[in-house]
Amino acid sequence: MSRKSVTILGATGSVGSSTLNLIAQTPDRFDVVALTAQRDVAGLAAAVRATGARQAVIGDPALYGALKDALAGSGAEMSAGPDAIVDAARTGADWTMASIVGCAGLPPVMAALEAGKTVALANKESLVSAGALMMAAATDNGARLLPVDSEHNAIFQCFDHDAPERIARIVLTASGGPFRDWTRDAMASVTPEQAVKHPNWSMGAKISVDSATMMNKGLELIEAFHLFPVGLDRLDILVHRQSVIHSMVEYIDGSVIAQLGTPDMRTPIAYALAWPDRMETPCERLDLAKVGRLDFEPADDIRFPAIALARDALAAGGARPAILNAANEQAVAAFLARRIGFLDIAAIVRDTLERYDPPAPRTLDDVFAIDREARIRADAAMETIAE
Ligand SMILES: NC(=O)c1ccc[n+]([C@@H]2O[C@H](COP(=O)([O-])OP(=O)(O)OC[C@H]3O[C@@H](n4cnc5c(N)ncnc54)[C@H](OP(=O)(O)O)[C@@H]3O)[C@@H](O)[C@H]2O)c1
Repeated sequence: MSRKSVTILGATGSVGSSTLNLIAQTPDRFDVVALTAQRDVAGLAAAVRATGARQAVIGDPALYGALKDALAGSGAEMSAGPDAIVDAARTGADWTMASIVGCAGLPPVMAALEAGKTVALANKESLVSAGALMMAAATDNGARLLPVDSEHNAIFQCFDHDAPERIARIVLTASGGPFRDWTRDAMASVTPEQAVKHPNWSMGAKISVDSATMMNKGLELIEAFHLFPVGLDRLDILVHRQSVIHSMVEYIDGSVIAQLGTPDMRTPIAYALAWPDRMETPCERLDLAKVGRLDFEPADDIRFPAIALARDALAAGGARPAILNAANEQAVAAFLARRIGFLDIAAIVRDTLERYDPPAPRTLDDVFAIDREARIRADAAMETIAE
């Protein structure tokens, strides 16, 4: 594997830290160009010093002074603000890890694609909100998207990229989250602490709540639709509580090819980091005799209405997926701040989708306008709930 230049957008988060952990295993293989964070100055500074990154960018401009103090004498170039993150994505490294959480990651992801980079995509919200525009930007500029989400990375590894017409079905597996066996009555009093405690994976707060509502699987369905051109009717979801099979591709002859592994994000990240090569990881190896059994069950749309909301938004297309994502981001943040209950999250997304129906976005600015307005509508729906 030749030396690769790397930028990590969202270096202080769960995916960003796992990427840094892999780079630290074989630092001579990677040249770290830029690292970004939003508010975690200490985490960013530590990562810059550990990797010798040339650039450090903090999203919150008010923290520029703190970053300068934390990196004094390091020789790293420093900047602040959302535009500085976009600049870091556009310049420098050939390989970019997109691991910012939420639609806030969309501008830098688009900048990296427009600059023809290879983008390892963890930031699913950007693809949900602006899927068609992002895929077009990748094609038009010769950029490459490598899926990092474990399910999409699994599909990417099993997929016949030269002949998608040979594929009968893609099966996205889902752990079912921490409340997979709970009734809706029991879910009504779920706390943020319970919701972020995922049974199989260790992840950031937002995606952990999305896993608990199963909106995560809905977002992933939309993500798969854009990344793998087989059509919505060939995308299925299957609950598989052990998270050993990360997803499967069924071919027209009945063959099913699956990718398996222990639930550790460093495996799909390493695949994207080394692609088209492979690299060693410190991940625990899969011992199927120890796992003993693999269970499967259909997803329950009644207890987890977020799945159907996402499928309907994808089927309707246009602005619907961007509205779904924006309303969900607002509702999850409000739930984490204890302003609404767990079951209110999907209710607010539904309400926002019902009350807001703008035309399909044609430009990135249209997407941002829809995202902003959907957040205002979601906030208004939350006020009604709070009354
Ligand atoms: N965690 C997983 O295992 C996993 C698996 C599959 C997919 N994903 C996807 O990967 C993405 C990242 O997830 P995560 O769990 O790593 O999230 P996380 O732990 O919350 O980290 C988010 C990162 O984004 C930065 N950030 C937050 N808000 C920002 C903003 N407005 N502008 C710029 N940067 C911002 C954070 O900086 P600060 O630390 O300074 O706040 C942090 O570096 C999400 O889209 C998620 O769905 C995650």
